[in-house]
Amino acid sequence: MCGIAGYVGKKNAVQVVIDQIARLEYRGYDSAGVAFDGPSSIKVLKSAGKLDRLRELVAKEDPQATSAIAHSRWATHGAPTDLNAHPHFDQANKIALVHNGIIENYMELKEELVRAGHTFQSETDTEVAAHLIGAEFEKGGSLEDAVRRASRKMTGAFAFVVMAESEPGKIVCARNASPLVLGFTEGESLLASDIPALLPYTRRVAILENNQVAVLTEAGIEVSTLDGKVVEPEIFEVDWDSTAAEKGGFEHFMLKEIMEQPDVVRQCLAGRIAGNEVSLDGLFSDHMWQEIDRVNIIACGTAYHAGLMGKTLFEQMLQLPTDVYFSSEFRYGDPLLSPRSLAVFISQSGETADSLAALRLCKQRRIRTLGIVNVVGSSMAREVDRVLFTQAGPEISVASTKAYLAQGIVLFLLGLHIAQVKEMPGVSVSAGVQALRNLPEAIQEATELADEMKEIAEKFAQAPLVFFLGRRADANVALEAALKLKEIAYIPTQECPAGEMKHGPLALIEQGTLAVFGATDPATRDKLISNIREVQARGGYVLAVTTSDDPSLDGVAEKVIKIRPTGDAFLNALLSIVPLQMLAYYMAHARGCEIDQPRNLAKSVTVE
Ligand code: F6R
Repeated sequence: MCGIAGYVGKKNAVQVVIDQIARLEYRGYDSAGVAFDGPSSIKVLKSAGKLDRLRELVAKEDPQATSAIAHSRWATHGAPTDLNAHPHFDQANKIALVHNGIIENYMELKEELVRAGHTFQSETDTEVAAHLIGAEFEKGGSLEDAVRRASRKMTGAFAFVVMAESEPGKIVCARNASPLVLGFTEGESLLASDIPALLPYTRRVAILENNQVAVLTEAGIEVSTLDGKVVEPEIFEVDWDSTAAEKGGFEHFMLKEIMEQPDVVRQCLAGRIAGNEVSLDGLFSDHMWQEIDRVNIIACGTAYHAGLMGKTLFEQMLQLPTDVYFSSEFRYGDPLLSPRSLAVFISQSGETADSLAALRLCKQRRIRTLGIVNVVGSSMAREVDRVLFTQAGPEISVASTKAYLAQGIVLFLLGLHIAQVKEMPGVSVSAGVQALRNLPEAIQEATELADEMKEIAEKFAQAPLVFFLGRRADANVALEAALKLKEIAYIPTQECPAGEMKHGPLALIEQGTLAVFGATDPATRDKLISNIREVQARGGYVLAVTTSDDPSLDGVAEKVIKIRPTGDAFLNALLSIVPLQMLAYYMAHARGCEIDQPRNLAKSVTVE
């Protein structure tokens, strides 16, 4: 989720690329750097921290280059330090590179390069890419030839940009899955990882497609395939203003973040599944998983709801007793903690005060701790014994959407990892991995339900109360769907397991009350249909979300929303949140609410 920029032309190139990455601030920042053509060699300036630190370094040098590349990092691997900041050099310090994404086979490539005599300054996969391109460049041909040959050797989702000392006035970039946009204008060529960084300079842009290479010079931009076949870029005119552009053309960050969930899944899975197996780095020893007798999941709000999914999963898949606590209750509840237990903390920000206090309590009691965290370098990520990053990218909207999905996926990966280590009979890790592979497309399809969700949302926008119901994993998702609606649309909700309705909440159903049923779980289908009938008998309007391979709700619910099955019941339930996030979004929209910054709420709750 880093920001990348590049410029060739008559302007002060360093100032242009720094201005460009400043416009990518919403993608997150923890370090930044720039490389530019010096009088006799490429010069790199970089620093951990905010962009102002880099600006100070640049001000001291006052470089007058005509081509430059820059990078702002939002760490997903490796701490935000000067050393890990981009650009990185090749072995000969003659090629500088910035990169976004993950090179999955970098360890293999690095070993080969080390055998060939290369030495590395950082632990990053980026430096490996720089060395690999450098090694290919030494074999002969142009910089773009070297980029093509090196790209073919790398696997993963990445985009990178390079410049070579021996080819001044030229920038080469390549893309495989991570975004890169090219900017066209007379006498100048630009690139960036997102459109807003190009808008002050040009509105004529083209998206670099996967497996394409672009060569930028003052004369223009030439695009070709990895095989060297020249292709005509599809240039289009951007008519958004820059605020809309930051939001990727969406009206709100929340909608952008909902819509980018297919990519979030890919990013979250990158490097973590291989063949039929799960591979999670940096976890506890295999022996420790045999020892753990109980898991306590501790979190707040949406992250707590993800924790409930973890309980369902760990108990059903692993037969591992699991409790879930609100952080604010856990710390004052004098919890009974087995010395063989594992405490799992889930947090998007990694800075939630209640969760940090609960973490410190566990550390005092010498309980093993594992964090599932989005923000690298956050307090939680630094204080837990082990951490799994959700790799969802910066979440700007106060209402959490993509982080929840990524938290659910990381819990699923963790479940599969434990099953794999413990060689649990009855758990098919390969089936789980396959279901994960199906997830991005299933989510993509779910995002295409936007118009349908908008229509329902507009119909019920003035509802005084909305019910969210389900059973087992669907009941957990119901809690999260209800939270989304109340926090951004300010509509009161009633959420509970569907079987609980007749023990009280059913009294609130009136003629026309909207009741949203999560209905992805075939194991409880018949009972759920009885619950639907109970609601309808009191005049309720039922909206059910189920999988497209299940016709049993057709003609039962007033409205059925169908999602594509992934092959795994847990993931189907998790996926059902996507249309429900859109329901909340469009209801809030129809009511004219401040969607990205709902009243009374903050993104990161750093007070107890
Ligand atoms: C709701 C929401 C909050 C957070 C909660 C915990 O949409 O975002 O409920 O989930 O404040 O925050 P983190 O995950 O940063 O610990």
